[in-house]
Amino acid sequence: MWHRNLLELIGRTPMVQLNVVTRGVPPLVLGKVEYFNPGHSVKDRIALKMIEEAEKAGLLRPGGTIVEATSGNTGMGLALVAAVKGYRCIFTVPDKQSKEKIDALRALGAEVIVTPTNVPPEDPRSYYSVARRLAQEIPGAFFPNQYDNLHNREAHYETTGPEIWEQTEGRITHFVAGMGTTGTICGVAQYLKERNPRIQVIGVDTYGSLFQKLHETGQIDPKEIYPYLTEGIGEDIVPGNLDLSLIDRIIKVTDKNAALMARKLARYEGLFVGWSCGSAVWAALQVARELSPKDMVVVLLPDHGIRYLGKIYNDAWMQAQGFLEPTSGMTIREVLKAKPRKTRGLASVSPEEPMRQAVEIMQRYEISQLPVIDGDRICGMLTESRLVEVLIDEPSAREQPVEKYMTEAPATVLPSTPVDIVSKMLTREMPAVLVQLEEGGWDIITRSDILQALVEAQL
Ligand SMILES: Cc1ncc(COP(=O)(O)O)c(C=O)c1O
Repeated sequence: MWHRNLLELIGRTPMVQLNVVTRGVPPLVLGKVEYFNPGHSVKDRIALKMIEEAEKAGLLRPGGTIVEATSGNTGMGLALVAAVKGYRCIFTVPDKQSKEKIDALRALGAEVIVTPTNVPPEDPRSYYSVARRLAQEIPGAFFPNQYDNLHNREAHYETTGPEIWEQTEGRITHFVAGMGTTGTICGVAQYLKERNPRIQVIGVDTYGSLFQKLHETGQIDPKEIYPYLTEGIGEDIVPGNLDLSLIDRIIKVTDKNAALMARKLARYEGLFVGWSCGSAVWAALQVARELSPKDMVVVLLPDHGIRYLGKIYNDAWMQAQGFLEPTSGMTIREVLKAKPRKTRGLASVSPEEPMRQAVEIMQRYEISQLPVIDGDRICGMLTESRLVEVLIDEPSAREQPVEKYMTEAPATVLPSTPVDIVSKMLTREMPAVLVQLEEGGWDIITRSDILQALVEAQL
């Protein structure tokens, strides 16, 4: 038996009992493991539904282009559907997304535009605004708009909800899911509550997002909206898919608790899941502790852990965030002290300055990497090897703005971060990290600065 194409494999994901992280918790807790979808996330379901409905409505025709603002997983689903059906794909992705997710989209043939995370949604540079503009400008473009497209929650009403009902033989009492576009939670909740109105639906939110406050007070509190790290859940806008009347309770989970729980799921349950799966299970356990053995909790696990290898599954990254205890030894503070005077402090360039300015600064200070800083925001990096590459391929680049050629922003660490962690973070592509100084401002550390400090320590 075979399938005619990959799209037939979307949905019908398995449900697996959690056995170790649930010790001492009265009810059965089941994970609906969405990484069994062909694009390794729950978003394959909505990608297929939104595209099929656009085709039916004549919004997407052969040779058309799909443009979407996506945090990675929806892009993966859309890119997969587009590859099978022969559409072109362009995605805008905020720059906090993991590099692995962006590379995966490109592998499937999609064009990816990386946009700044820390700008409000109405800013013309935000990933929502850029996607909207591209969709208007490109002829034959279709903008699925997963936030407001109600086919998102319908996909879950038609597939995820019925699957959960059948897999639990109608015994489910509590459903727990992360809230991003809210398509998953609202679609599933509507189906389950139609079958049994007593089923409780619990949404999982992050600190820095608006959902919990909105649910409790009907208000959006701008003070509670700030940058956070967990990918895929939490919002600074109210998605069109949201129907708060379907949600009984919302629990916020910290970036750290989510990351540690995801690692436990991998280590003790063999479930190598994504960061927001940690948030969802952390919240599910909080709910389950208040329940009885007669209850049955289903928690939706949206994606796979492989996309977070550079973050929550990387000990050095976890330690640099303060999520894991650092190992003892020399810290960056000693490296800063050992730096020769003339190279202390930070030379930088702003994104709109011409490349020739960057060359001049690097020559003047005899440095081989230059951070690109806009106000207090670190937006990218220029390395000597990147400059050489650009200037050989494109001599006219000298007059072009730095932002056109800069590479990913370097990681930032604290003076208290141990040197062994920082040395593991340095690579050929990213040969420096920035240090956020206690007195304000930044400094930069390279491998040769670390070497210098190690040599001095032995003298
Ligand atoms: C990893 C991850 N978790 C959770 C969610 C939330 O699902 P929904 O957008 O249906 O609310 C998303 C959505 O982007 C996601 O990518």
